[in-house]
Amino acid sequence: MLRQIAPDFRQREIFTCGPAGYMAAVRHMPATAGFAMDRHHEESFTFDAPPAAEAVAVPDTGDTAEGRVFTVEFTRSRRTLTCDADTTLLAAATRAGLSLPASCAQGMCGTCRTTLLAGSVDMRHNGGIRPREIARNKILLCCSRPRENLVVEA
Ligand code: FES
Repeated sequence: MLRQIAPDFRQREIFTCGPAGYMAAVRHMPATAGFAMDRHHEESFTFDAPPAAEAVAVPDTGDTAEGRVFTVEFTRSRRTLTCDADTTLLAAATRAGLSLPASCAQGMCGTCRTTLLAGSVDMRHNGGIRPREIARNKILLCCSRPRENLVVEA
């Protein structure tokens, strides 16, 4: 398939970014097809992130939710979980056995972006989501904590 899509792939540079399993699969394909791997590049998010440059509440109700436990309905997964106000939605989902798309877990890459259908979150991202996306109720699961009961499209 790689040869069909890009017959000249041996003359190209390859740049990959995404979950570790995806990058491993992409790394394997050209390596076994005779590609010069010094032209294969990967972006990794396994470093210590600086403090969040921007904290965004969606929407900010001004209420404090510390110590409270909320229900989170994941509509695509057809699961409803509990998540306390100090835990990210991604961590709660992972703990419950859900496997949702994610990569950096730092609010940078946008892989975990989804739509908040009901409720509000405290989202402290590192640039992985745009203001116009936030305005359309998009959130990053890896850096969003519930402020009330939620319905999430994930
Ligand atoms: S996993 Fe990268 S922004 Fe959430």
